[in-house]
Amino acid sequence: MTADAPAAIVDLAALGEDFTRDPYPVYAKLREAGPVHRIRMPEGADAWLVVGYEAGRALLADPRLSKEWRNASPALGVAQVASGRTMLSSDPPFHARLRGLVTRAFTPRRIEQLTPRIQEMTESLLDAMLAAPHRRADLVDALAFPLPMGVICELLGVPFLDRASFRELSNTAISSTDPEARTAAVKAMPAYLSRLVASKREQPGDDLMSALITASDEEGDRLTGEELLGMAWLLLVAGHETTVNLISNGVLALLTHPEQLAALRADFGLIDQAVEEMLRYEGPVETPTYRFTTEPLDIGGTVIPGGGELVLVALSDANRDPARYEDPDRFDIARHEARSHLSFGHGIHYCLGAPLARLEARIAIRSLLERCPDLALDIDPAAVSWRTGMLIRGPHALPVSW
Ligand code: HEM
Repeated sequence: MTADAPAAIVDLAALGEDFTRDPYPVYAKLREAGPVHRIRMPEGADAWLVVGYEAGRALLADPRLSKEWRNASPALGVAQVASGRTMLSSDPPFHARLRGLVTRAFTPRRIEQLTPRIQEMTESLLDAMLAAPHRRADLVDALAFPLPMGVICELLGVPFLDRASFRELSNTAISSTDPEARTAAVKAMPAYLSRLVASKREQPGDDLMSALITASDEEGDRLTGEELLGMAWLLLVAGHETTVNLISNGVLALLTHPEQLAALRADFGLIDQAVEEMLRYEGPVETPTYRFTTEPLDIGGTVIPGGGELVLVALSDANRDPARYEDPDRFDIARHEARSHLSFGHGIHYCLGAPLARLEARIAIRSLLERCPDLALDIDPAAVSWRTGMLIRGPHALPVSW
């Protein structure tokens, strides 16, 4: 909103499937007009959308934006997508307390130690996939979903999780554009997770969930029951909803850019850099979780009012900003500056699981290519069906053949 005129609403919901399939040109057009826009989301609510790299990066770390739902304006018409209070929905100092209690489990060294187990799980998923009768499979079902889900379940110590029904609940809570379906899925979560936490209390093991139940910091602080539920929800959902799409989007980018695929096959030493470019080019998080204004913000001459307005940062657009990346719509695994992407966020909420996600994607994609020398897409790329909503970017399914 400028000083004298209310901003016109850009109705992204009205763009329907076109926007879901290819949001990049829409974001680029908005960016050319300025860094902030009033939008109607496909999820149904109105929000402020920040586009471009510099503006997006600055806002992700701006303390004037709150992640606490108690600061959201009641007029927004969006519901909280979480069970309990999580670090992703809290501000300092509470955020630091929650993050501190779990950080020790996610150090790069701890994650590195998971390498042999992730490799083993990948090989057994690929064994099953390659045994398929017609040399065809849906890569999401065969590898991209079960690998991160298996890893996060093992890390948390929940071997019995009913993964198919959890996936359905979690997918609906996160990317359905039907508010009723979303609310029902969010409501079903606590009961599901309570059973999980209760069974861990009864039978603690050598795993992260048991450690969190007994975790205490130097002041003897402990997670309450509600905080534990929130933590379990956040780790399970963040641990698989995102990495699944890094693997699927990454493989899709390779299979639609044969020269890049050939370069990677010729030198698997490029895998780390290739994964960074996959994160930049088609990152799994299109706009991260909600932020609310606590005071008016002036961004490039546009004032977003205070009082709990919803602000979204278009990570997908920041990563394609020509002011930051040369020829940004080109997928180029040799691009050195790719690692500066914002796909894991920025600031105090920077992704806790980034080292784990990177490790899983490197192992999964390299092993897949090694074991399938003639891997090909088994669908017209234009026919790929994408997940709805503005939070997650990834295909529902990715048919491949070999
Ligand atoms: C490619 C995979 C992943 C991507 C693209 C991703 C992306 C992100 C982003 C963008 C944020 C910041 C959100 C915001 O500022 O609103 C975030 C936070 C977070 N992520 Fe990830 N993530 C991935 C994988 C994981 C994994 C595997 C885990 C856990 C096992 C995880 C756990 C978390 C947690 C706990 C937070 C909240 C941190 C905080 O609030 O301090 N993520 N992630």
